[in-house]
Amino acid sequence: MMDDRHIYTEIDKAIENKCDIVFISYSMLDETDEKIRYTVQRIMEKYDREDWFTPVFSAVKELTANALKANAKKILIDEGIIKETDPILEVVKKLRTILNERAVLEYGIKKKKKALSTRIYFRLQPDRIIIKVINNLPLDDFELKRIHERVKLSSKYDSIAEFFMDYPDPAAEGMGLGLCMVVTLLKSINIDYSNFSITTDGIGKTCAEMTIPLN
Ligand SMILES: Nc1ncnc2c1ncn2[C@@H]1O[C@H](COP(=O)(O)OP(=O)(O)OP(=O)(O)O)[C@@H](O)[C@H]1O
Ligand SMILES: [Mg+2]
Repeated sequence: MMDDRHIYTEIDKAIENKCDIVFISYSMLDETDEKIRYTVQRIMEKYDREDWFTPVFSAVKELTANALKANAKKILIDEGIIKETDPILEVVKKLRTILNERAVLEYGIKKKKKALSTRIYFRLQPDRIIIKVINNLPLDDFELKRIHERVKLSSKYDSIAEFFMDYPDPAAEGMGLGLCMVVTLLKSINIDYSNFSITTDGIGKTCAEMTIPLN
């Protein structure tokens, strides 16, 4: 295994040479978090946009959390703890108790065994930064439609609190505010929600993508 100092040097070099950077994560407790923070920080320094660090890093973190949660849910289904036919509120209740506890680490190990990964890509182009968070499970049409609706609705708001008052989501796994937070964070740095997309190949991939234009 490479030691950490080496990894930070590699990150610096990749940013300097505008190479793609990818992180692979299996659980929220990963030390990957620190490396992603470092990467976003260095990229923003490079483009002289330090003020973008907080919104962009928070957005990446939220999209990563969603992807990791989707993979954890798959394990719960495989283990029979939740069933596809369970009422959605039942699923959410079970998911919440399990995700709250130290089980996060245990599920991280299970995800690794089952190769349920979350990949976080940074691509530096001359006129934009592209960030993708990909997990290797598909979304069905129903889920995709629900996500797209909430993203679109969010675009009308400047604060997640107002959105929450108007569109509480009883079926959300958390507060149902993560996607709205991403949209409003991007909006706060003048990035339109059309630069944020969630897509699926319907087979084995869900991709959340943010494009950050550089003027
Ligand atoms: N990568 C993903 N794979 C599968 N489903 C996803 C993914 N990202 C989002 N979702 C779905 O979109 C819903 C809304 O996501 P959002 O982040 O807004 O809320 P949440 O994660 O449920 O709660 P919160 O973010 O407030 O803790 C999730 O409940 C989940 O069903
Ligand atoms: Mg979320």
